[in-house]
Amino acid sequence: MSNLFDHKGAVGKGYSQPQPLLAAHMIALPESLTRKNPARWPRLSEPEMVRHYTWLSKRNFGIDTGFYPLGSCTMKHNPRINEVIAQLPGIADVHPHQPEHHIQGLLSIFHEMQEMLEICSGMDQVTLQPVAGAQGEFTAVRCIQEYFRSRGETQRTKVIVPDSAHGTNPASAAMAGFEIVEIPSRDDGRIDLDAIRAVVDDETAVMMITNPNTLGLFEPEIAQAAEIVHAAGGQMYYDGANFNAILGLTSPGLMGFDAVHYNLHKTFSQPHGGGGPGSGPIGVKNHLAEFLPGPIVKKRPIKAGEEAHAIEDLWFGWYQPERSIGKVQQWHGNAGAVVRSWAFYRRFGKELRTMSQHAVLNANYLRHAIFREAKKAGVDDMFCDGAPTTVAKHEFTLSLQPAKEKYGISAMDVAKGLLDKGYMAPTVYFPLVVPECMMIEPTETESKEVLDDFAKHFVEVLQIDAETLHAAPTTTPVRRVDEVYAARNLCLRHPFEEDEQ
Ligand SMILES: Cc1ncc(COP(=O)(O)O)c(C=O)c1O
Repeated sequence: MSNLFDHKGAVGKGYSQPQPLLAAHMIALPESLTRKNPARWPRLSEPEMVRHYTWLSKRNFGIDTGFYPLGSCTMKHNPRINEVIAQLPGIADVHPHQPEHHIQGLLSIFHEMQEMLEICSGMDQVTLQPVAGAQGEFTAVRCIQEYFRSRGETQRTKVIVPDSAHGTNPASAAMAGFEIVEIPSRDDGRIDLDAIRAVVDDETAVMMITNPNTLGLFEPEIAQAAEIVHAAGGQMYYDGANFNAILGLTSPGLMGFDAVHYNLHKTFSQPHGGGGPGSGPIGVKNHLAEFLPGPIVKKRPIKAGEEAHAIEDLWFGWYQPERSIGKVQQWHGNAGAVVRSWAFYRRFGKELRTMSQHAVLNANYLRHAIFREAKKAGVDDMFCDGAPTTVAKHEFTLSLQPAKEKYGISAMDVAKGLLDKGYMAPTVYFPLVVPECMMIEPTETESKEVLDDFAKHFVEVLQIDAETLHAAPTTTPVRRVDEVYAARNLCLRHPFEEDEQ
């Protein structure tokens, strides 16, 4: 089997079942909108199509095929009950233009999700609209920008980010038109209050930060950082990509933040990857709520005549914030993703804190297991800092700088070697402040056996000689690619034979 575009296909049509009777009555598109030339699809039968997609899926790696310890990206198991719920007809088959009385059930789910996210983050109002963490960042900084404009504080044009920040933070702020001010972290990887003091002034609009930070370390001085920024009249933005470590234990509200985004596709299970499908709702304190994109779902007591469609004595309806920055997505965003996360959240309820505790426990267990195995094998000189003395949160970083200097083995080599062991590689070269960085996040959904096996295999890879490792991976459908070439010469479609002639 190979790519279906390589098939010549049968002349005419491949085998398929007869068209449904309904097809004859379908409304034809106006001629101006129809194709002038037939699409260049290979003519394949239905079984050939199914084989093609099954073949493609087998060339892929996913959380359902193996351990996926991608730091910062939280690839956790998606309980299948989420899928069953998201596909219920009352959820999957509705249209946003249906009248409110048709969709009270779905609206009540959205409302409950908004409320649950408000509670876990300590915010006052949530919008579900953004469909990725990065889009949430952009949306929130735009709301903050409008807030300052409404107060006449148009000179607030600067956004502070630590040098360990995820790249989307400065990118989102720059897209909104802000100037980025990067501050150095302390040697221990935490934020430096003096560095914040040195840059805040009446031009500061926002400080964007995640906690635990991108090194997987909790920022114990976050409340003081918020005080400094607030005293200068700025706002605090919480990048919620690392919520998995703190849910039910603390909250951005308690830490002094004014706005947050949630990566539903990381924290609340469901499929995640390849840029989608995601969901990045944002939550804000009251003073920013009127700037949020709508529609938001609000509830009110029912009026006379609504009883037949209402859920108990409540009515759920769309609401448009008065001074909204405008839409960033269609309607309520990615409805399926919200429903999956709602199902996950509902199952955990107050037990969410155990989810975070297990995520943190798993990360620390794996970190120690790797060091233990490395010591046993006599290769612990390949990491920067010996056995860990601090407690990581839900993820941790390893610096393979010594391995590179002594043996010519880079973080990328180890990552590629792990592919040959049947694992997804951890994140490499992020955060940028750690040389030869590998970032590992096991999530709470993996068992001790999986973690022990991974630690063993990780250390086995470290023992492979540099020459062999430079050739890895050897077992994957695509071998090592020239990543710079691939990034500069994006190939997004399969070439047709005619194109090559
Ligand atoms: C710390 C951090 N912030 C923001 C993002 C952006 O989230 P998304 O990928 O949903 O756009 C990520 C994604 O990996 C992240 O790890």
